[in-house]
Amino acid sequence: MADVVRGQVAYPEAPMPAKLVQGSDADDVSVYIAKCAGNANCGVTAANATPAAPVTTTSATSSGGGGGGSSTAEGKQVFASAGCGGCHTLKDAGATGNVGPNLDQLKPSESRVAHQVEVGGGPMPAFKGQLSDAQIKAVAAYVSSVAGK
Ligand code: HEC
Repeated sequence: MADVVRGQVAYPEAPMPAKLVQGSDADDVSVYIAKCAGNANCGVTAANATPAAPVTTTSATSSGGGGGGSSTAEGKQVFASAGCGGCHTLKDAGATGNVGPNLDQLKPSESRVAHQVEVGGGPMPAFKGQLSDAQIKAVAAYVSSVAGK
């Protein structure tokens, strides 16, 4: 399974972000596979798979604090649906992408993640417009709170 995922990830490795964005279906699938292969608590449908998280509201306070009210469950879902895991490794999300830096090793701050997601950089596409400000904030809070855990 990992090879399947890697294959999807490796194919667009030449800096060709536009093409990879078009292939977001493949991204989503590979993220899903990577997530479920490594994680019994497969969180793609966060509403079903994350027992501790309140799913009826997005105003739940994040455990880490400082984030300003976006739940990590929401951020986790954004991470999966935006295809971040197709390019990045993040253990909590079950993501094993290796196009961009390993986020568990990088342990970026929330503002660093938010900035990178907004404007992109190198082969990474900008997600502003594709993701709402709230979604960017949520995914940044999520990544910064779980990286390296
Ligand atoms: C097409 C592959 C791709 C996707 C999809 C992608 N990234 Fe990246 N990401 C990269 C690459 C490549 C870099 C390194 C960029 C550079 O070296 O300038 C990077 C860098 C980063 C960094 C490090 C920024 C820094 O300051 O060093 C963070 C954090 C990050 N990405 C988060 C995300 C998040 C969150 C998502 C989903 C919303 C995402 N990425 C989606 C490829 C991707």
